[in-house]
Amino acid sequence: MKINVLLSPLNADELYFTGKTTIVIDVLRASTVITTALNNGAKEVIPVNTVEFGMKISGNAFSGHTIIGGERNTIKIDGFNLGNSPLEYNADTVTGKSIILFTTNGTKAIVKAKFSESVLICCFNNIKSIAKHVVELGKDVEILCAGSNGMFCIEDTVCAGKLITEIEEANGGVKITDAGKASVVLNKSFGKSINKMLRDSEHGKLLIENGFSDDIEYCSQLDIIDNVPVYNSGVIKL
Ligand code: MLT
Repeated sequence: MKINVLLSPLNADELYFTGKTTIVIDVLRASTVITTALNNGAKEVIPVNTVEFGMKISGNAFSGHTIIGGERNTIKIDGFNLGNSPLEYNADTVTGKSIILFTTNGTKAIVKAKFSESVLICCFNNIKSIAKHVVELGKDVEILCAGSNGMFCIEDTVCAGKLITEIEEANGGVKITDAGKASVVLNKSFGKSINKMLRDSEHGKLLIENGFSDDIEYCSQLDIIDNVPVYNSGVIKL
């Protein structure tokens, strides 16, 4: 099994993913929101790469069966039901619902990977479940870090490094590319305190400034959720 890490979605075009097994990580906060919403009983999450497309397909958003959520510059978008805080996606709000989600980096990265054979959604909350699933699959893996506006971000890379470490511990025969090795080293150093790493990160600081300090606490929790969200035919389900 070979594992590569794409440190930003700009490292590859859509066709690069054709037939691959891809794991998308956007710790702050899209992949944590998706993992949480599905764990709390959402029927499905539909990631979109533009607000306009999200609005278009949310025709019955106010019928009660569909919710539209997401953010621009971390803040809930006007006319949307929810923002992009995982704490909003609780059982009372999401059980049985289809959730259309637009976020600045995360949902765009997921949609970009659409030609993959399978796309899994990972964050610190469900890292062990994803590692177990990947070991069972036994296929080569691309880990796609959503990053920040095309740039590297530390939290997604540390999460990628922790995921690789988990996979390696369960399957000794893993080959890791240079970007994968760099992620593992970053996790060894910054992954010792996930909470501190998130609070000190550029996006973490912005979230704190905008009043989302509780989200950092939530997103930093390791293995509190046992699920494997899979993106297939435009929809993410467990
Ligand atoms: C993103 O996709 O860029 C993030 O999820 C932004 C956020 O923190 O809401």
